[in-house]
Amino acid sequence: MSFTDKQEALVNSSWESFKQNLPQYSVLFYTIILEKAPAAKGMFSFLKDSAGVQYSPTLQAHAEKVFGLVRDSAVQLRTKGVVVLEDARLGAIHIQKGVSGPHFAVVKEALLKTIKEVVGDKWSDELNIAWEVAYDELATTIKKAMS
Ligand code: HEM
Repeated sequence: MSFTDKQEALVNSSWESFKQNLPQYSVLFYTIILEKAPAAKGMFSFLKDSAGVQYSPTLQAHAEKVFGLVRDSAVQLRTKGVVVLEDARLGAIHIQKGVSGPHFAVVKEALLKTIKEVVGDKWSDELNIAWEVAYDELATTIKKAMS
């Protein structure tokens, strides 16, 4: 099944809403990640020395990158039908940090829950699936780069 204009538009508009309140949503995103995988705290330079999830500009920049890359993947899926990893370093970075397969499921769940919070009553299965597909395709390219 190809990625549709509608799916791309759903991802784009919720990405814009996400950016409108980055401090709040980036903290929410990492809070959910650490609820599911408490041990992951030590992996993130901007979390390891803080009590719980504290807001910081690096935390926010990192969340913006992750969501932004998923959004870019949605654009690639609609225009080219495939996701090409634009930053070849991402494989090595994640190996070095000790990221493994199950972590990708945790980050996916946190991303989808954050988007649900972002869009409020505009949430739909269709929107959720659009983010899910874009994330899965991107995660596959990163995992390939890690192997
Ligand atoms: C670093 C993206 C999944 C843990 C990064 C960076 C990017 C990124 C762009 C920063 C590279 C830089 O320094 O410029 C993504 C995307 C993911 C993903 C798009 C999924 C599609 C994961 C997962 C984990 C993870 C599943 C594990 C829980 C980390 C850590 C760093 C990192 C620990 C280093 C952050 C730091 O301490 O500064 N990731 N990532 N990432 N990622 Fe991911």
